[in-house]
Amino acid sequence: MSHPPPSAEEIAVTLAELLPTFRHSLPRKLPDSIWPESAVALPSGDVTVGGVSLTELAERFGTPGYVLDVQAVRARCRAYRSMDAEIAFAGKAFLCRRMARLLAEEGMSLDVCSAGELATALAAGFPAERILLHGNAKTDRELRTAANAGVGRVVVDSPAEIDRIVGAQDVLVRVTPGIDGHTHRAVATGVEDQKFGLSLAGGQAAAAVAKVLQRPELRLVGLHCHLGSQISEVAGYEEAVRRLTAFLAEIAVRHGITLPQLNIGGGHAVAYRPGDAEFDLPGFAARIPRVLHYECRKHGLVVPRLTLEPGRAIVARAGITLYRVVTVKHGSSRTFVAVDGGFSDNPRPELYGSRYAARLIGRVGAARERAMSVVGRHCEAGDVLIPDAVLPVDIRAGDLLAVPCTGAYHHSMASTYNLVCRPPVVAVDDGAAEPWVRRETETDLLRRDVA
Ligand code: LLP
Repeated sequence: MSHPPPSAEEIAVTLAELLPTFRHSLPRKLPDSIWPESAVALPSGDVTVGGVSLTELAERFGTPGYVLDVQAVRARCRAYRSMDAEIAFAGKAFLCRRMARLLAEEGMSLDVCSAGELATALAAGFPAERILLHGNAKTDRELRTAANAGVGRVVVDSPAEIDRIVGAQDVLVRVTPGIDGHTHRAVATGVEDQKFGLSLAGGQAAAAVAKVLQRPELRLVGLHCHLGSQISEVAGYEEAVRRLTAFLAEIAVRHGITLPQLNIGGGHAVAYRPGDAEFDLPGFAARIPRVLHYECRKHGLVVPRLTLEPGRAIVARAGITLYRVVTVKHGSSRTFVAVDGGFSDNPRPELYGSRYAARLIGRVGAARERAMSVVGRHCEAGDVLIPDAVLPVDIRAGDLLAVPCTGAYHHSMASTYNLVCRPPVVAVDDGAAEPWVRRETETDLLRRDVA
């Protein structure tokens, strides 16, 4: 039997196994649970993402800066869209006009929860009929703007809101199914006694359904629930499908209507550090439609169209934050690596105790590594980005650090605390870089400040 000759890549891999020194001189893929698939570590210590060098990006666009791998976002949209479901991206994770246009191109729907997110989507020409308006405290102005724009669906979150919805409108009722997604309490929304939704067990959801049906201009098209965020287990979603299908059956009996849509929200977890639990999307895609079909058959219901609302799972891993080390301070028991960003570009460590990894970019550091604290520039002792980053012991001022998995809830949660300007979002795609959001300047800050 004859074998084909080995490829150049196979020869390189074999050589790398035989000669450790050769291994270090090869470009390497980075752990793709936390880096975008396109990330490659070069022998020089630089890393390319989307074919663009991070060192060059830092020089060209400054630091701190968010980098977004466009193909990584598209790949996640497509992974979700391969399911037989409507996929509505949760705009709160990251939204700008270019992002909205990408989402439209990928056939996604969009969940917005404020006038700002709605205005951004509309300014990008995102189809209004594919927009869902969320919020536990929608203002009259937001409801009016949504009606004028022809927003597809409003997700009802309180009984009083039902009277305030303007014009003929498709609505969903947001149900609190009483399911614990086992996540941080700040982002757990499926459980009873928090501010979102209408309780299934307490009868508030049934009352809201009856109330919507009393307003002839409103068309009740389905139910919604959102269990919370950064959920790694599929089981909670199965239970949500069971409980909501039973409720659909109850509505069919009581009101003689079949609702065509079932939206089970987002919340799918990503890994922030190697080894973190990740949401099992293939498992979810295999399991959930089956559970839905089974439950509908059991209740004699026509199977509703499933909607999912992932935010984090679409953009988190596509994003990287670049920081410049400003100073390194050796305390009595630990080393503080202070960078030019911090709490204002990433409040997540302080808000949720989120943990990240960091990597030295642009040079090969000392072989010996140690855990040290990467801290921000803000005037608070709690402004610690990573309390236990493992970095080369010779880390020094001027070094460039990359923190992966920062594409979701980073730019969108950035503030101007200490009047620090917000970083740009630079999109990389096929070897080219272009800002999607430019860096904020002091002039921007002063423009809002009425002298
Ligand atoms: N649908 C609704 C109604 C939501 O409220 C949310 C998120 C999502 C979908 C999307 O969830 P995702 O798939 O992105 O987990 N700032 C926090 C996350 C807050 C999420 C709020 N709602 C964080 O940085 O972890």
